[in-house]
Amino acid sequence: MLTVLCRRDEVSADTPLRVERDGMAYAVFVIGDGYYVTQDECTHGPGLLSEGYLDGEEIECPFHQGRFHIPSGQPVAPPCTEALRVWSAQVIDGRVCIDPSQ
Ligand code: FES
Repeated sequence: MLTVLCRRDEVSADTPLRVERDGMAYAVFVIGDGYYVTQDECTHGPGLLSEGYLDGEEIECPFHQGRFHIPSGQPVAPPCTEALRVWSAQVIDGRVCIDPSQ
């Protein structure tokens, strides 16, 4: 079952969008033509990735400057060691959707 997170034009290439749905906080990214969704909370601590620094396919956490590869969720710079949860984003009728149970 798909859940709509936002309209595609709400996400800019410079700034991830935080979306809360059913008690979960997501970060929505657009890189090139692709949309990506990760958990918004950093796996290392209280940092929010939607407030981080975007660098190509990587997001830098604003709290301790750890980094993750957005498409895979894998940590790429310390102190982050645990992968982010990621969801496959689909754009349907201009809306970014995920299957939260994925
Ligand atoms: S909370 Fe994100 S790097 Fe520490």
